[in-house]
Amino acid sequence: MDVSNLSGTWGLVTGAASGIGKETALELARRGANLAICDVDQEGLAETEDRIRGSGGQVIAGVVDVASADAVSAFAERVHAETEAVDLLVNNAGVGLGAGFLDTSLEDWSRILGINLKGVIHGCHFFVPAMVARARGGHVVNISSAAGYFAAASLNAYCTTKFAVLGLSEALREELAPHGIGVTAVCPGLINTPITTRSPMRGPLAEDPATQARMVELYERRNYTPARVARNILKAVQRNRAVAPISPEAWALYYFKRFAPRLLYRISRRLTEAQTPRGTRTP
Ligand SMILES: NC(=O)c1ccc[n+]([C@@H]2O[C@H](COP(=O)([O-])OP(=O)(O)OC[C@H]3O[C@@H](n4cnc5c(N)ncnc54)[C@H](O)[C@@H]3O)[C@@H](O)[C@H]2O)c1
Repeated sequence: MDVSNLSGTWGLVTGAASGIGKETALELARRGANLAICDVDQEGLAETEDRIRGSGGQVIAGVVDVASADAVSAFAERVHAETEAVDLLVNNAGVGLGAGFLDTSLEDWSRILGINLKGVIHGCHFFVPAMVARARGGHVVNISSAAGYFAAASLNAYCTTKFAVLGLSEALREELAPHGIGVTAVCPGLINTPITTRSPMRGPLAEDPATQARMVELYERRNYTPARVARNILKAVQRNRAVAPISPEAWALYYFKRFAPRLLYRISRRLTEAQTPRGTRTP
């Protein structure tokens, strides 16, 4: 899909009130697209909406919980009243969770699977059939993560959802290719967004309040911006990439996974040790 000039097209971005979703929506608007945006954060969404209107495009904004099939279905009805189908679907909404498996409650599982995995399924379920029926191509972007191929013990449930989004995307890509619809799984590394302060921590990670502060500081110092991610997402769409690692660390982990998996396990083990407070480590 040519994304250099998107005049007359419709983009849809979930989780557009903040971070990567917000910047992706704004980048699409700058290139002339009309936007359908949704989020659970009404205030943040209104701010994104105002900025899109400022750039002259049409916008449909909805307070939508992507974990709810009914809510996404109702939003799809609103969107399809304006356009037969969207051209670019970006399933971005997601949440983090710092927890090993032993510290993850069933409530935590239900929340993160609902948003990070079912949210992507709902987006595809309610918007892709209209893209296929319209028969004019388009592109689906699902935001996975470097944690979609790098398994970190302290991100057990998060990794589960992101591995699943990667698999869903690769399979969907094959199915949609005959319809001229591309699918890209985007896998960012450490991106400086509010997700770092919003992600709940469990178990040993929660026992030391400095853990989250250290993580926030690491992401801030790294300072890979969501605006840069947005531009790279569109580059990946232009090239119709199947998997798009974003940031040097995401690329490094991607190549380690393919060519040096044992090294990756060692990195994962070291990371777990570094994150586990002394005294709680099993010798
Ligand atoms: N920031 C990173 O380092 C990083 C790395 C890899 C992948 N990602 C992924 O990128 C995506 C965007 O994350 P971000 O870093 O921009 O975080 P963010 O917290 O800045 O933005 C996430 C947005 O999703 C929204 N959201 C949360 N639950 C929702 C729900 N149930 N329904 C609708 N919207 C909901 C939030 O309100 C927020 O506006 C996520 O899928 C995340 O897992 C982020």
